Amino acid sequence: MSGAARIVARLNELNGLSDDEAGLTRLTLSPAHKRAVDLVSAWMQEAGLATRLDGAATLVGRQEGLRPSAKTLLLGSHIDSVRNAGMFDGPLGVVIAIEALDRLRARGVKPPFAIEVLAFGDEEGVRFSTSLTGSRAVAGVFDEACLETRDAAGVSRRQALEAFGCDPSSIAQEARNRADVLGYVEVHIEQGPVLEAKGLPLGIVTAINGASRGEIVVTGAAGHSGTLPMNMRRDAAAAGAEIVLAVEEIGASRPDLVATIGRFEIRNGAVNVVPGNARLSIDVRSPRDADRAAAIAEIGARVQEIAARRSVTAEMTISYDMPAAPCDPALMSALERALIRCGHEAFALPSGAGHDAMSFRNRMPLAMLFVRCRGGVSPRPDEFASEADIASALAVLEDFIETFGAEA
Ligand code: CO
Repeated sequence: MSGAARIVARLNELNGLSDDEAGLTRLTLSPAHKRAVDLVSAWMQEAGLATRLDGAATLVGRQEGLRPSAKTLLLGSHIDSVRNAGMFDGPLGVVIAIEALDRLRARGVKPPFAIEVLAFGDEEGVRFSTSLTGSRAVAGVFDEACLETRDAAGVSRRQALEAFGCDPSSIAQEARNRADVLGYVEVHIEQGPVLEAKGLPLGIVTAINGASRGEIVVTGAAGHSGTLPMNMRRDAAAAGAEIVLAVEEIGASRPDLVATIGRFEIRNGAVNVVPGNARLSIDVRSPRDADRAAAIAEIGARVQEIAARRSVTAEMTISYDMPAAPCDPALMSALERALIRCGHEAFALPSGAGHDAMSFRNRMPLAMLFVRCRGGVSPRPDEFASEADIASALAVLEDFIETFGAEA
């Protein structure tokens, strides 16, 4: 069996470990997550890795380097999922790392540095309101307060971790020392359509986009749709519609920027009422924080201009601000050289979605390799990455580790 075929077989096996009969649902610290930890742990041991489950339920598989004092390269992704998920989002990055190490070992290649494969168990944040706790623990930015967050059934994360066999009091010790780590590298499906549109199997991530989220509340005056002349209206929905188009235009005004109104509500709307209110969500993302800030400022100004012209009031509040996580230039160029040696174009793109890798922002060098996914759809049961593309990613990862070894 080829390496890629074994990866696909293993992803299929993991796909069978679900908390839900109908599809793949593997929420953090659930029975299916436990079975996935056991299975991945067995694969890690088969590849010669020493395994342990850390205090935040990250499965760690470690291989020592030739030099005992050497630094550690971190590889990994997550093995939890959303509800009704696809089988590639997360597990691919874990299974491909195990396979790459197994193949290097079979070829007698022993890197001078140590390598850890990290199978994080809390990337998606579906069960508890907080997420990325596994990678944040390794990065040294774990927030103790999230141990007290509770799921819908009232179980705290602390209780769930203990029931899972983890010791939450040991989480602080998981923080890796920057001086001991070479970096963190994650392989993940793109979850977007860019690589497919370019006709490329792989891409190097430039940064994980920063994101701002908030709300725009528009207040006009409700009125009778039959009696209120058009020129006397203060229609909040019409103003909201103009805001939607302004946000779309601003989103398209800078490279890699995206801006979205995903929710547009009219409270007490009726067929014969001129809308007096509208509530819009706003989501703006960019790999460059300065561009995102400029876009937010521009949207705020346009919202006020539209409101004034239409004699309504509008208030925009930004409730969530996550800075971008730029990838490390040295790791990116090492990946780029591996891509070129493997016969691929070294194409780079930002990540629109969040990933465990962003936990390492400002803590240690991070990089990501994206694999093309069909139609750009994910997370969904029909998400798909081809065995041929997975074979390409495996070859690049192997080459990266091997030559990084020579260069490190
Ligand atoms: Co993912």
